Amino acid sequence: MSKTKLIEIAKANLEHARAGTIDQTDSIYRVPAENYFNKDRWQLEMKQIFRRLPLMMATTAELPETGDWKAMTAANVPILLSRTKTGQVKAFFNMCSHRGAQIMAEGRGNTHRFTCPYHAWSYNTEGQLTSIYSNKEFGELDKQCHNLTELPCLEKAGLIWVILNRDSSLSIEDFLCNYDEMLAHFDFANWHYFDHQTIKGPNWKIAYDGYLDLYHLPILHKDTFGPDYPSKANYYNWGPHQRVAGPDSALAQFEQLDDAQWPVNYLLNGVWTIFPHISIASFDGGGRSIMLSQLFPGETPSTSYTVQHYLMENTPTEEQAEAAKAQFEFLKYVVEQEDYATGIKQQLALESGGKEHVMFGRNEGGGQRFHDWVERLISTPDKDLHGLFPKTD
Ligand code: FES
Ligand SMILES: [Fe+2]
Repeated sequence: MSKTKLIEIAKANLEHARAGTIDQTDSIYRVPAENYFNKDRWQLEMKQIFRRLPLMMATTAELPETGDWKAMTAANVPILLSRTKTGQVKAFFNMCSHRGAQIMAEGRGNTHRFTCPYHAWSYNTEGQLTSIYSNKEFGELDKQCHNLTELPCLEKAGLIWVILNRDSSLSIEDFLCNYDEMLAHFDFANWHYFDHQTIKGPNWKIAYDGYLDLYHLPILHKDTFGPDYPSKANYYNWGPHQRVAGPDSALAQFEQLDDAQWPVNYLLNGVWTIFPHISIASFDGGGRSIMLSQLFPGETPSTSYTVQHYLMENTPTEEQAEAAKAQFEFLKYVVEQEDYATGIKQQLALESGGKEHVMFGRNEGGGQRFHDWVERLISTPDKDLHGLFPKTD
């Protein structure tokens, strides 16, 4: 079913290439400049988006084996992911039941138990409190009532989502609007995790705007990869999640094929974004690879940081690993020195008050939809949240 959808999109992109058109929106869209720096607004975004919606925290490839764990901070919340004995991934606050110390240092590893560095209380990979150091002297305590605090978590399509609210009743599956079925075509669950690196950036929305924007490629990236990439975009959405894929006349070579014969790899071209903070760009050559950019707001409205993850379809040979390393360094350069360097200056200019609004053109439908969703989410009360996410074929 979802392959049919990929082919439908490919055919639309081929039609656009033949007609020399793109899918334009009805009008130019304006976003108040202060949306990028107003503190109250930013706090609302933290509360209504980052602390309320599922966030993609990790790839399956980072913790494939039983006992694998990952500790990280997301939107100022320390979390711990654990692949339990049954193979299921669980998410917890990375916080000890004794006095709240962070149990695992940020990073990844494999273990049978999580031991707190403060007074050595230990938990198993299921998050159950198993031992209290000097228990007799500490006093009687019902261990079963003092496990790690669990957060809603779902693993799908080789990706792991967590909601940073232990009381949330939002279904992660509903939030995905069937987009996970499209992403499942990559088969990320069986990919090789190569490496990651972190880059500091401007307000999270300035940074995210760039991932939905092909319009800037031949201009801002003229000295690097820009001239080799299409700069015209069509946007396809599943609720708030959007795929960016341009008109492509080369698709004509598959036109006469039966659905089953269309090559899935080619059908997955372009950029896949996952609301509110993920972008996946894929590359070919020596086996497929992707850069998954995971964006988090920083400590102020003017800052963010992005963890770039590099995954490869196959475990690389030494030579392929060298090439991947060089490409990953190049990608860091492009994002840090071109995108975010521009974005950080743009942030300062916006904060100067020189303009009331910024604009997204009829060719920038992705940015328009993104800001629309941010707007909708910050004004939707909890009780109406479920109704926002449609099932999309
Ligand atoms: S805070 Fe963890 S054992 Fe004391
Ligand atoms: Fe860019």
